[in-house]
Amino acid sequence: MSHTVRIRSAAAGDVDAILSLLKPFAEKNIILERDKDNIFQHLQEFLVAEYDDRLAGVVCVHIYGEKLAEVRSLVVDPAYQKHGVGRLLVEGCEKWAKGLGVAKLFALTYVTGFFLKLGYRIVSKESLPHKVWTVCVHCARFADCDEIAVEKMLADTPIRPVAVMPIIEIDDA
Ligand SMILES: CC(C)(COP(=O)(O)OP(=O)(O)OC[C@H]1O[C@@H](n2cnc3c(N)ncnc32)[C@H](O)[C@@H]1OP(=O)(O)O)[C@@H](O)C(=O)NCCC(=O)NCCS
Repeated sequence: MSHTVRIRSAAAGDVDAILSLLKPFAEKNIILERDKDNIFQHLQEFLVAEYDDRLAGVVCVHIYGEKLAEVRSLVVDPAYQKHGVGRLLVEGCEKWAKGLGVAKLFALTYVTGFFLKLGYRIVSKESLPHKVWTVCVHCARFADCDEIAVEKMLADTPIRPVAVMPIIEIDDA
């Protein structure tokens, strides 16, 4: 039986479902904890995966600058894991970040094997800029963080920015 997976930007109506996806993994300190306010504040950074009509996964891309963005809060509902949804979410992040002109994506992760399959390479955490750690200080595991840093260069040529509105002619007489 065939299924459809759609990766799309998150919308305000997804926030409760995103919270439910993230919560069990945040409780195990696999990802950083977020509350509803935090998800709303960062909503434009989130992509979601719909597996048929079910919200099956979520990811967030946080931009630090032209050279760097982070893949965060990546979770696939355990009922839908190992069906390619995680890969599509990360590829969605890459396309989105590239479209914004960002050169490189990184993640701090316990699932190194997953990221290696997607073309990431392991780098030293010390190579990441200091501002990355401003979020990490809120993590329960900050003092003895054993996450691995992985990164991937995105292609040189950025995708052209997406038009939000059609081209409009203005009579400036
Ligand atoms: C990690 C996670 C997002 C992967 O999602 P998924 O939908 O199961 O992954 P996919 O099916 O797209 O897997 C893509 C490839 O990676 C492999 N893979 C998946 N999880 C893996 C793991 N933990 N270790 C090594 N390889 C893994 C798959 O076998 C697949 O390989 P293939 O292309 O050769 O078949 C999911 O397991 C998850 O939500 N884990 C809990 C939260 C978590 O750890 N998030 C990461 C925070 S950085």
